[in-house]
Amino acid sequence: MTHPLLPKHFQQHVLNWFNKHGRKNLPWQQKKSPYHVWLSEIMLQQTQVTTVTPYFQRFIKQFPNLSSLAAAQLDEVLNLWAGLGYYARARNLLRCAQMLEQKYAGKFPQNLIQLQTLPGIGRSTAGAILSLGFDQAAAILDGNVKRVLTRFHAIAGWPGLSAVNKKLWELAERYTPIQQTAAYTQAMMDLGALICTRTQPKCDQCPLQTHCLAYNTGNPAHFPSPKPSKKLPIRSIQMLILVNQQQEILLEKRPPTGIWGGLWSLPECPSDADAKNFSKKHYYCETEKVRQAMQMRHTFSHFHLDIQAVVMQVNKWHPPLMESDRIVWYNVQQLQKKGLAAPIKKLIQQLNNSTYTHSNGIFGKAPRK
Ligand code: ADE
Ligand code: SF4
Repeated sequence: MTHPLLPKHFQQHVLNWFNKHGRKNLPWQQKKSPYHVWLSEIMLQQTQVTTVTPYFQRFIKQFPNLSSLAAAQLDEVLNLWAGLGYYARARNLLRCAQMLEQKYAGKFPQNLIQLQTLPGIGRSTAGAILSLGFDQAAAILDGNVKRVLTRFHAIAGWPGLSAVNKKLWELAERYTPIQQTAAYTQAMMDLGALICTRTQPKCDQCPLQTHCLAYNTGNPAHFPSPKPSKKLPIRSIQMLILVNQQQEILLEKRPPTGIWGGLWSLPECPSDADAKNFSKKHYYCETEKVRQAMQMRHTFSHFHLDIQAVVMQVNKWHPPLMESDRIVWYNVQQLQKKGLAAPIKKLIQQLNNSTYTHSNGIFGKAPRK
């Protein structure tokens, strides 16, 4: 994985760019303290700079240093955090401050291993605290740096894969300079946030352009590779649209628990069963004119449901005397009023609309204008 650009030249390009274009007036850059660096890094883990800024300022006003935070009540911290989201961060923040007071005499330990034992501090945040807070030669690999490095080296594969992640850490460490590490770290964050952006990188303003392999492919936004989509299992069923002579369709209430619990739906028939026999046996319908009407996929979090809609004309309906209230005949034009599972409503509406284009649709006459 050699690259024509040596680390020292990479660093020069990045640092020169930073001197001209980098961010130097962010609130947590006003007073270089490990406490401010740590607090801002935690806030910035899942939240953008513009959102974080007022929170950061309120926070340091109320808790100007580590010991004041360590003495706080969780409620006070959570109140200041309200609206930032990911509240485990606020709980860890307080626990971390307390641990620092108890175990480390109220100071951040200056090494990667010890920092990473603290709540809420992973490898990249530990690197940021050391580099930005102490100007020590430690690498970071946050989302911005990942994007720059995967592009610069045109690294294929989703960065969440451990092999790809490992490669990226190797690169992050190779390029991180021994000196001026704070400036370099901020520069890489800024490059990722301002130039090498996710969808439309501004390569024409980038100090790394001439050596960037992704730029040279002509499609830098192709990197990093997206998370592969999970292969979900597929379940196939037939949904029966039983239409009686009043142009009503048969709806059935789902059991109270499970998918679409308590909502109205269409009768479901296994995909390999004979729909005509099934309708007779379970719904007491004598049917004709079986027609495969349309195919639809509905995706749940854990499987795809492939629905084959089957339209059937019901000539006779002879339910047993004790007919349950689980089944109703329903006028399609009034579907809105029924608590129908959303995909089922969509299916019926699509079917209804498509058949209007014919002279004599499944659900009867074409709508009046
Ligand atoms: N995101 C994470 N850390 C940052 C920092 N120090 N400046 C700007 N954005 C950041
Ligand atoms: Fe990112 Fe473009 Fe710079 Fe390459 S040249 S690092 S893709 S901004």
